[in-house]
Parts: sequence; C-alpha cells; structure tokens
Amino acid sequence: MPHMTAFARNQWYVAAYSHEVGRELFGRRVLGEPLVFYRTEGDGTVIALNDRCVHRRYPLSEAPTRLDGDRVVCGYHGFTYDTTGTCVYVPGQKRIPRTARIASYPVVEQDSLVWVWIGDPDLADPRSIPRARHLDSPGWVTVRGMEPIACDYGLLVDNLLDLSHETYLHGGYIGTPEVAETPITTEVDEGAGIVRVSRHMDDAECPPFYAKSTGIEGRIMRWQDIEYHAPCLYLLHSRVAPVGVVPEVDGSDPGGFHTEITYAITPSGDGEVYDFWAVSRDWATDDAEVTEFLRSNNHTVVMQDVTALDLLQRTLGTERHGYQELSINIDTGGLAARRILARLVEEGDKPVEKVL
Ligand code: FES
Ligand SMILES: [Fe+2]
Repeated sequence: MPHMTAFARNQWYVAAYSHEVGRELFGRRVLGEPLVFYRTEGDGTVIALNDRCVHRRYPLSEAPTRLDGDRVVCGYHGFTYDTTGTCVYVPGQKRIPRTARIASYPVVEQDSLVWVWIGDPDLADPRSIPRARHLDSPGWVTVRGMEPIACDYGLLVDNLLDLSHETYLHGGYIGTPEVAETPITTEVDEGAGIVRVSRHMDDAECPPFYAKSTGIEGRIMRWQDIEYHAPCLYLLHSRVAPVGVVPEVDGSDPGGFHTEITYAITPSGDGEVYDFWAVSRDWATDDAEVTEFLRSNNHTVVMQDVTALDLLQRTLGTERHGYQELSINIDTGGLAARRILARLVEEGDKPVEKVL
C-alpha cells in the first residue's frame, strides 16, 4: 500500500466555497462520502445529503435530478427527498418504505467556507471550527481557487508545513535562497491540535510575487508564520516590508504588507485531496491589476505543487516494499502534524460514550 494517511472522521472539513453552492445541485466527495449540496429557497441554508439515491443509487448531483422547492427529485425514477434526506414520494404506490432515506450531514457556513461533518453527528460542535475571518471581512480582498490532487492528503500537509520547498519548487515566483537557508521555529499545541511554524528573514531577496504586487524594490524583511489547525485549516500569516522597517504585530506597520494565505486540506477519497487555496490582502485593495496578478501567480504556484505531489504519489506507489524516509530540522512541523493527525484518527475510531 503506498503512502496512505487514515482519515480523522469526527472533524469538520471544508467541502466548498460559499459561492459554489446555490440553487443548482452540486456534488463533492469528502472522506470518500459522495455528497450533494444545495441552498434552501427561503433563507438559503446550505443542505448536504448523501449523493446516492436509495433506489438504484443514481447520483443526485447529476442531471436530470432537480430541485422542486427544497426537495430533491431523483432524475432516474423520481424518488423525492426533503432537506433531512427523508423520502417523501415514490412513484407508483402510496406506501413509502420506512428505510427510504438518505443520510444528511451537519453543515456550517462561516468565513465564506462551507464546512461539513462526516462522522457521528452527535459530536458535531460548530464552535470547534477554526476561523479564517480575513476571507470574508470588510477591508480585505481575496483571490481563491481549488485544485484536486491525486495524492494522499498527508503529502499536502507535509508540503504546506515545510516552506523550504519554495526555494526549489517555486523559484522565480515565491521562492528565494533565504527561505531554504533560514532555520524555523516550531511550536505544538497538542491539546488544541495546532502546529505553528515560523521563519523570520531579516534581509532577503524580494520574490516576484511580492515585488510586482507591492512595488517594493530591493531587499525585504519577510516573515512567514504558519498556523495549522489539524486536520483541515492552514493559515500562513505573511508580512513583508523593505529592510529597516520594523513591523508591528497589530498590523499597523508603516510600509509593511500583510498577506493572509489560506489553505483547506480536504481528503476527498483514498489518495485524493481537494486543495482549496486563497490569498487575502488588506493593501492595494482597489487595484484590480494586483488582484489579477496575485490570482494568476498563486494559481501557477499551486499547480507546481499539484504536479509535484501527483508525481510523488505515483512514485511512492511503485515502491515494492515499505520505504524509509530521512527527516531533518525543516520537517519538525510536518512530523508534529503527522502525530496530531494520528491521534485525531485514533480518537475518532474509539466508540463514543454517550451521556444518557
Ligand atoms: S435511482 Fe433514484 S429513483 Fe430510481
Ligand atoms: Fe508549494
């Protein structure tokens, strides 16, 4: 079996961006579960149901399946489901079998993200969802996208927690020699499941991604502060400023530029992951050219990762036996993330003691 990280089931995962879900039936897979999403007619609540009709398993996200008000009418023989997944109509008979229902899933829409819970619904606590307020706050502009990758989601976690790869894989975009050369500091909050990896460069080359968007000429102070909320949400707090400008952590740094890079890492199935990516800024917010530059430049960077991780997964899949890795200092954050994921998987597998 090639590299395959188990799924932590009792966790929230990003299934979609808010703008992707509307009055059309919309299909996604999370932890191997096929899901269909739509919004209700009245208040636009997002509904998530299993994407397989209970009759002959027709995918409900596919035409000619349609919405009739808030009900889903299967496009094959017309079985009709309400927002809870209960079947309310079958063709040719009055009696509806008691087992005619499909699963519905807890959904929370927050910070322009649609979060879904696949595990035990009784454990789904919306307050445990990490925030990414910059994605949906006044004063911030965000470019975003999603790329499916044919790799184990653990490989994407590894990739994002070790940014030294920027120097090699993303040279000419976001990588410069200083990223790989500068040591990191790592902090792990085991209880909260958060890994923090920081790399502060005091005097670094300005990569084109920031030089062209901010207009900074010459060398920069560049801070990268990662905050990974296992399993799904990854925040990279990025600050750049011309060398000599001392940044304030409260965001008031004169001449400094504060950028939030967000990823959501959602396993869609074994060896498949959705790579949601977003770049948010609170500077030059009305400059459409900067917006378009950051969108296309970051998309290129993400596709470099996609290509590398597709290749890595295929390569690991050709190993005849288990293989040995070699880890060094740069891997500290990634190894901590693997430990936390393993714990979340184990906890999610335990039978839950229900309070009676
Ligand atoms: S498969 Fe859906 S009604 Fe037959
Ligand atoms: Fe990358």
